[in-house]
Amino acid sequence: MADLDPAAVGLRAEHMIKTLASISAEPNRLVRTFLSPEHRAAANLVTQWMRDAGLGVSEDALGTVRGHWAGNSGKRLLIGSHIDTVIEAGMFDGPFGVVAGILAAEHFAKAGRKLVFGIDVLAFGDEEGVRFPATLASSTACAGTFDSATLELADAEGVTLSEAIIRYGKRAADIPAAAYARSDAAAYVEVHIEQGPVLEYRNQALGVVTSIAGQTYLNVEFLGEAGHAGTVPMLLRRDALSGAAEAILLAERMARDTKSEVLATVGHLDIPAAASNVIAGSVALIVDIRSGSDTARQQFVDHFKTELRAIAERRHLGLSITTTRDVTTTPCNPAIQDGFAAAIVATGGEALRLASGAGHDGTAMAKLCPIGMLFVRCRGGISHNPAEYASPGDMGLAVAALVKFIETFKP
Ligand code: GLV
Ligand code: MN
Ligand code: MN
Repeated sequence: MADLDPAAVGLRAEHMIKTLASISAEPNRLVRTFLSPEHRAAANLVTQWMRDAGLGVSEDALGTVRGHWAGNSGKRLLIGSHIDTVIEAGMFDGPFGVVAGILAAEHFAKAGRKLVFGIDVLAFGDEEGVRFPATLASSTACAGTFDSATLELADAEGVTLSEAIIRYGKRAADIPAAAYARSDAAAYVEVHIEQGPVLEYRNQALGVVTSIAGQTYLNVEFLGEAGHAGTVPMLLRRDALSGAAEAILLAERMARDTKSEVLATVGHLDIPAAASNVIAGSVALIVDIRSGSDTARQQFVDHFKTELRAIAERRHLGLSITTTRDVTTTPCNPAIQDGFAAAIVATGGEALRLASGAGHDGTAMAKLCPIGMLFVRCRGGISHNPAEYASPGDMGLAVAALVKFIETFKP
């Protein structure tokens, strides 16, 4: 079997990623949300790539596209990432992992080389959790842990997940069939851009992921009383937006106090009746709280909720807090870490080990089987930003390392 040429394969990866990035809901920025028409178009493109790579292709009820290369046993190595994006996204977060999986599987498929295990390349559709107030629907379905209560959650237009599935041409009744049998899933691995600055700082193209940080999402709503900006005296106001502003700064201050052991972000604020001359009657915000330490995260969440109640009380506001995500830190399997470390060394690198602060489908897949991740350097550590960039050279090395990993993987 011919050796893989990392330089050539890296250029192919870049071309594929750019092509996928042209599929967007908006002309001037990349927006591709779960079960949208753009998701459909991206899934069709991925299907074509998988066929061209010599893989058999299927698609499940939550839109995960699966490219299959059969092995000499029922065991399968699952290699995946996601094709949904944040709003105004970069083009590498997610798509590179799918492309890397396809290019690595193609290496075996084109040579007709069967391994003792099969390979399934998975293109998930709901890693970013942008459209519905939940996330990882597609990977939890594959892991057999999909929570059917999320079917009733609605997007900003009031379309429930259940309706979106029907519009996508699927049936919620088929979701259980998306689950892998535990006996078939040997492991799940993912190649992803680092989304942080460590590899660049250490002058390394690739790194081994040790764990994926835990996350809590709190949907917080302050309820005050709408009123006229020119007539209601300052001391008689019940301003929901001022309460929300205090909450945002509280989250930042508390997280700073942990010296970044816990990270807290409010990136979404909804003022349903926003107008410059109206005191806000209600405001909703989403607080994203993460840490590599589950204890630190839990303590933060408990303390933060207490402080939120104090803000609401002081300001005579109503308050509701709903936890929409609560995911513990996910360790990567030690043997898979060692396998990726050896593969990095074989491609000329140093095999640094680092934790992931970003969330990944691996947190869902870890409920099914051992997981591992390979990180790829990205420029300036920038991600969730159109400036996101990974070089073709680094991407080629990542695919080469993934191929080496597969060659030595023992199910
Ligand atoms: C996904 O990118 C996440 O970490 O939220
Ligand atoms: Mn991602
Ligand atoms: Mn992301």
